[in-house]
Amino acid sequence: MKVLILGGGGMIGQKLAHDISVNGLGGETPELILHDIAKPRWSGAGNPTLLTGDIAADETAQTLAALKPDVIFFLAAIVSSDAEANFKTGWDVNTRGAWNLLDALREQHEASANAYRPKIIFTSSLAVFSGPYPDAIGDDFHNAPQSSYGAQKSVVELLISDYSRKGYVDGLSIRLPTICVRPGKPNLAASSFYSSIIREPLNGQEAILPVPDSLRHWFASPQSAVGFLKHAAELDFNRLEGRRAMNLPGVSCTVADQIEALRQITGNDAVKLIKSVPNADIANIVMGWPRNFNPERAIKLGFRADKDFASIIQSYIDTEMPDSH
Ligand SMILES: NC(=O)c1ccc[n+]([C@@H]2O[C@H](COP(=O)([O-])OP(=O)(O)OC[C@H]3O[C@@H](n4cnc5c(N)ncnc54)[C@H](O)[C@@H]3O)[C@@H](O)[C@H]2O)c1
Repeated sequence: MKVLILGGGGMIGQKLAHDISVNGLGGETPELILHDIAKPRWSGAGNPTLLTGDIAADETAQTLAALKPDVIFFLAAIVSSDAEANFKTGWDVNTRGAWNLLDALREQHEASANAYRPKIIFTSSLAVFSGPYPDAIGDDFHNAPQSSYGAQKSVVELLISDYSRKGYVDGLSIRLPTICVRPGKPNLAASSFYSSIIREPLNGQEAILPVPDSLRHWFASPQSAVGFLKHAAELDFNRLEGRRAMNLPGVSCTVADQIEALRQITGNDAVKLIKSVPNADIANIVMGWPRNFNPERAIKLGFRADKDFASIIQSYIDTEMPDSH
């Protein structure tokens, strides 16, 4: 089996690649190919092929499709605030790149007398939705994005669905919860503070809270994200019954709940490092985001998330701060 990870140098891409290189996928040890705009780092097991290229460029799609991967994880993207600030780049990377690839895969499918039909797992986002929301968003809630990033993800969901309906690829778009606690430095996602307010205090640094602590949102750990992607790749897509976009399980909690979970794990000193500095720009974006889901379909199909927010923090401590034990 040949597995291609687009965005393989990114946070989730790296974790997914390391997991697959150690634990395999679907009971096999696949040939692994990581692709990103800059050469992906590698310090894990095995010897994956590391490719560089711009996913928005026409020739990239042709090159990647010619590799004929059996499974493609499509994670390459620019994130929410970046896509809002850079309109054309956002559409080029987040949508045109995916469309180019799907079309190049269609050509490979036709050239193979319809024998080649890769699985493609696309990481969509909660940004495809907008309010007013019910208490818990159900599986049939409609897409109505209110940001360029959400619109770009929503269009790719439709493309994946139609290219799959025609049999060119076998695709699924999974709408990831906000992945928290994100390791490393803050990024350009408007959601970045959700990780900063936990990660920075755990590392003895101050963090800025730009929104009211009553704000509720939907989270999963990076380890759950890897689990979702692997589960999707191993799932029999006949069970999707043609519905190729899906909300995933997660943890619904307020910022105050996040901070309380941190207090329970580390005590008050870490919590004192969180400073409230209201930022209307960030608040205006994130206050319109979903707060809670009832992802019955994904749970029925075997997707599993973290138990609660304390487990999400513990997962960060276990994987990113092993020396702290
Ligand atoms: N992290 C989250 O909370 C979250 C939530 C919902 C959806 N997602 C989606 O999951 C995916 C992975 O997220 P992540 O947190 O690992 O993001 P990330 O920013 O760490 O990784 C994305 C990768 O895409 C690469 N990329 C950007 N432009 C490219 C281009 N033109 N050509 C090739 N590669 C390019 C980047 O270099 C980066 O390595 C993304 O599609 C994101 O939209 C993430």
